[in-house]
Amino acid sequence: TFVVTENCIKCKYTDCVEVCPVDCFYEGPNFLVIHPDECIDCALCEPECPAEAIFSEDELPAGQEKFIELNAELAEEWPNITEMKDKLPDAEEWDGVEGKIEHLER
Ligand code: SF4
Ligand code: F3S
Repeated sequence: TFVVTENCIKCKYTDCVEVCPVDCFYEGPNFLVIHPDECIDCALCEPECPAEAIFSEDELPAGQEKFIELNAELAEEWPNITEMKDKLPDAEEWDGVEGKIEHLER
């Protein structure tokens, strides 16, 4: 399965949702997640993310392992998103900032 990781937080570009053939993205206030039971591992979303926040769970960068659980948990709580929308207002400024998990809103 594919996993949305920390750099999506406070950016949420949403390019990823447009390409998913099974519509398995779920949206929170400043982050979105992939439902692990619905993702078919097609890898189409990975290159679409301007923030490079999407990875296969087998290729997660160091320190991002906690996002496997977080995607599974939040996909059960948040509503589905299938259409691209505007990125968050300061997306460029937050792209690449470390420690954004502190800013995750639920
Ligand atoms: Fe959707 Fe494919 Fe990305 Fe999984 S890997 S979230 S199925 S686009
Ligand atoms: Fe997030 Fe990248 Fe999608 S920033 S909303 S994973 S395009």
